[in-house]
Amino acid sequence: MEGMTHVAAGRAAVTVPDQHSGAAMTSTRRDLINRLAAAGGILAAAPVLTATEPSGDLAPYARFFADDPPKPPPALVPTEANTAGPYFRPGALFRAKVCPPRAAGTVLLISGRILSTDGSALGGAMLEIWHADDKGRYDNDDPDKPPGAVMINRARLVADERGRYEYETILPAAYRTGPKSWRPRHIHYRVRAARHGELITQLYFKGEEHNDTDTIIRPALIIALSNATGDAGAYKQGVFDVVLAKAQG
Ligand SMILES: [Fe+2]
Repeated sequence: MEGMTHVAAGRAAVTVPDQHSGAAMTSTRRDLINRLAAAGGILAAAPVLTATEPSGDLAPYARFFADDPPKPPPALVPTEANTAGPYFRPGALFRAKVCPPRAAGTVLLISGRILSTDGSALGGAMLEIWHADDKGRYDNDDPDKPPGAVMINRARLVADERGRYEYETILPAAYRTGPKSWRPRHIHYRVRAARHGELITQLYFKGEEHNDTDTIIRPALIIALSNATGDAGAYKQGVFDVVLAKAQG
């Protein structure tokens, strides 16, 4: 067949049409490349590269390479088992603490369920939560001060087998987005579950300043907070259930 490639005796031989007579002829791969290059530069031969030179005797610095490649990790002793005691209870929540320890601000507890549109619980759904601090700042909102590996006011958590989730954090502050524009207090959500579409949304709080002027807020995403008291003082709490649409197809 015209233009088909053959391999014969360990050397690539190619059948190509002769440009002038139209008849087929056999050529080596190198001949083909040369012919095509001459015909219009369709294929260019790879440049010949010179190997990078070593720097010579490494002298005392050679010890830095002594451990290369890295050694395998040492064998570890399994952690010892110990008694469960009489107070274990199955079914504890997968809880998260979103803000850093003892962060400034009003303590806030948010809980809820991740559900499908048919009402079934989406156990194992993953939530990603992020929000501003009590001054309206994110850990990555200053290009001159990249946060690196530190994650402030961010967490991932997993819904339990009944679709429940819960996290403690602080009430984020509103923040300015322009000379006369503000974002009201809010918490960002990204929620994913098997066989459902990913949801990216935001949670808002009833009665907050700037709720009426924000252009992003949606009434269905506003929850009311109630007052609660813990051992160490007062805090706010609210419930935010999330319903995911089923994946298409
Ligand atoms: Fe935000």
